[in-house]
Amino acid sequence: MVAMDVSEIKARVPREIIESLEARGIRTFTPPQAMALEKDLLKGRNMLVASPTASGKTRVAELACVNSILSKGKKALYIGPMRALVSEKYNEFKAAYPYIKAAISMGDLDAADMWLAEYEMIFVSTEKLDSLIRHKINWLPEVGCIVFDEIHMLGEPGRGPTLELLITKLSSMTDAQLIALSATIGNPKELAEWLKAELVASDYRPVMLKKGIVSEGKVFYGDDDKEELYGKSSIPEIRVLEDTLERSKQALIFYASKRNTEAGAVRLAPHIRKLLTVGELEALAKVADKVLGTLERPTAQCIKLSEQIRSGVAFHHSGLMNAQRSAVEEAFKGNLIKAVCSTTTLGYGVNLPAHTVLIRDIHRHNGVSADRIGVNEVMQLFGRAGRPKYDKEGRALLIATSKYDVPVLYKGYIEAEAEPIDSNLGVVPTLRMHLLAFIAEDFLNDVESMHAFIRKTFYGHQYGDNLHMKNVISEVLDDLEEWKFVESVGGRSYVATKIGKRVSELYIDPLSAKWMLDSMDNASDTLGILYMISNTVEMRPYVRATEEAEAQFVMRRSMNRGIYLYESGMDYGSYDPVAAFSTALMLNDWMEELDENTLVKKFGTTPGALFAKLMNADWLIYSAVELAKASRKSAHSLIDARVRLRYGIKEELLDLVRLEQIGRARARRLFNNGIRRVTDIRDNREKVMMLLGPELAQKVFSQLGSAGAGSAVP
Ligand SMILES: Nc1ncnc2c1ncn2[C@@H]1O[C@H](COP(=O)(O)OP(=O)(O)OP(=O)(O)O)[C@@H](O)[C@H]1O
Ligand SMILES: [Mg+2]
Repeated sequence: MVAMDVSEIKARVPREIIESLEARGIRTFTPPQAMALEKDLLKGRNMLVASPTASGKTRVAELACVNSILSKGKKALYIGPMRALVSEKYNEFKAAYPYIKAAISMGDLDAADMWLAEYEMIFVSTEKLDSLIRHKINWLPEVGCIVFDEIHMLGEPGRGPTLELLITKLSSMTDAQLIALSATIGNPKELAEWLKAELVASDYRPVMLKKGIVSEGKVFYGDDDKEELYGKSSIPEIRVLEDTLERSKQALIFYASKRNTEAGAVRLAPHIRKLLTVGELEALAKVADKVLGTLERPTAQCIKLSEQIRSGVAFHHSGLMNAQRSAVEEAFKGNLIKAVCSTTTLGYGVNLPAHTVLIRDIHRHNGVSADRIGVNEVMQLFGRAGRPKYDKEGRALLIATSKYDVPVLYKGYIEAEAEPIDSNLGVVPTLRMHLLAFIAEDFLNDVESMHAFIRKTFYGHQYGDNLHMKNVISEVLDDLEEWKFVESVGGRSYVATKIGKRVSELYIDPLSAKWMLDSMDNASDTLGILYMISNTVEMRPYVRATEEAEAQFVMRRSMNRGIYLYESGMDYGSYDPVAAFSTALMLNDWMEELDENTLVKKFGTTPGALFAKLMNADWLIYSAVELAKASRKSAHSLIDARVRLRYGIKEELLDLVRLEQIGRARARRLFNNGIRRVTDIRDNREKVMMLLGPELAQKVFSQLGSAGAGSAVP
């Protein structure tokens, strides 16, 4: 199949599509795009596009979505697995079709986001859409086209099952056209059959991607194709960098851990810095200052990142703050940062100007042992090299530790076939959460229809009807009934209780909900509350358990058995009380107003991980409040703890933070200067002006009229 001229579809699509494509300078469709069109993409056929990285899969989705919106007057939905990816697609779409009402929704998992109903093109993450459905959004019937990007994620043990169930659910709840986009995988036919989709499989590559193995200063591209790398370093990653810079190109290097990315950036920095122009150094300094100023007081990691950026290199991993990650991505796209050392946070779907991709670490620790990463993953990471928007060709490399390893790696990765993807549905915690949701929504109530539903999943497609799954289902239903989240009607059918419905909407594991309900009354003080929310799967991975934490835990356990020694005989999953307690101590220190820098050091974590924990903790404590209300328990101390956790403040600041614009630092400044309550502000206007500056002070004064001054918890 060859490329197809855009004008060929003129007669079949709304004029706006052609105009938008032409405005962006797109005159021909890539072969997978042309094939999809040939196979009746625009007539609403389901479609699985399985083609190499950068072959233009997004545009297939775009055509189907815009066609659905403009010709059929029906909404379209884009579902992606990663934040960076979903925002990139949203931004591109808005720029291409400014007159289509597009929205993005990724946040709060206990919200129906009714405002979304107004929009025509909706971008969501997998989990967000799943939670929207639990809140019974009423606009699903108006959806005419649903896109699942990076659908091979279905094979991931952690998040795959949620995606799989979501696809099954949506295809039975709507008659929308399904567009699934996948990288090259081993079993595209099987996946397409399951989706009742036309398969568009293509091996088209828009840019030449040279794939090779680095050893002793040379790259081996197979057969007799060898290339001497420019430079003189004997350290492979530095040598590859030297060579890339010599070509005036940029490099993206993948490492197996956050720590490795940071060490890598430090190693590369001097080699880049010496080549930078004065103009570049100045522009980089601006980016570095921005990154340094992300937090009130920069942590060691912020300082490290900004220092490396001054030298034209950066590290990128989940421990960075969102704003820092975007700053790095922008500066890399703008050719200011010459090399990025990344974990897989930049590995999927995104378009970056990396001429050379190097996978430095081929092994990754899974907690127990180090495993070699899979072929599909290597292809995904390689696919970040040489993106059409930025380059005509790309280079993707692996490192061999000895020359004997060269043919092994070449055979094992570059010549290897893609792996098939498999369903991971047979695991209890995921099913527990989803079966409760099915019952709570009255989507599936009886055991027979659950079995029938499972037959419609990819699991069912792959393994047929089987006893293992039936046993798992009945085990889960027994638990949910025992925990009083569902009630059985006549033995084989279930309805959700009031509290079961709430648990489902809160989007937490029913087991976490059960634990919180059982231990709420024993959480006699703040640390107890924090322990209650920390001892859940949602708060994992825990921060490092220190010896001090262990000692404190033992002491608390002997003094106040309550929550620390739960003896109902109930098994709350794999139980790691000291580590959970450690995490609670970290939250407690945050509420005692320790600064981020100290916390990060004390608990051996990163600012990004700290904030992710704080967000999860906020979510769980909110859930605890909701569960307390639903079961008519007192929620006062939980609500206060939530406000303190949210702002990171001691109890004495609770009154002041009710004011807008007054957070942790400003409230503390006011308090230490004798302004301890909102009412003190009225009588000390001058002092407040001095402490906050006139502009901010005015904003604060204007809130005084409305005596209540708003509530801190929205
Ligand atoms: N017909 C076309 N002509 C020119 N450029 C195109 C065309 N279609 C897509 N592109 C460009 O190619 C680049 C890669 O496209 P896209 O992101 O859709 O790749 P992909 O197939 O989804 O890859 P991945 O598997 O890495 O997600 C984008 O910058 C896009 O703008
Ligand atoms: Mg893509």
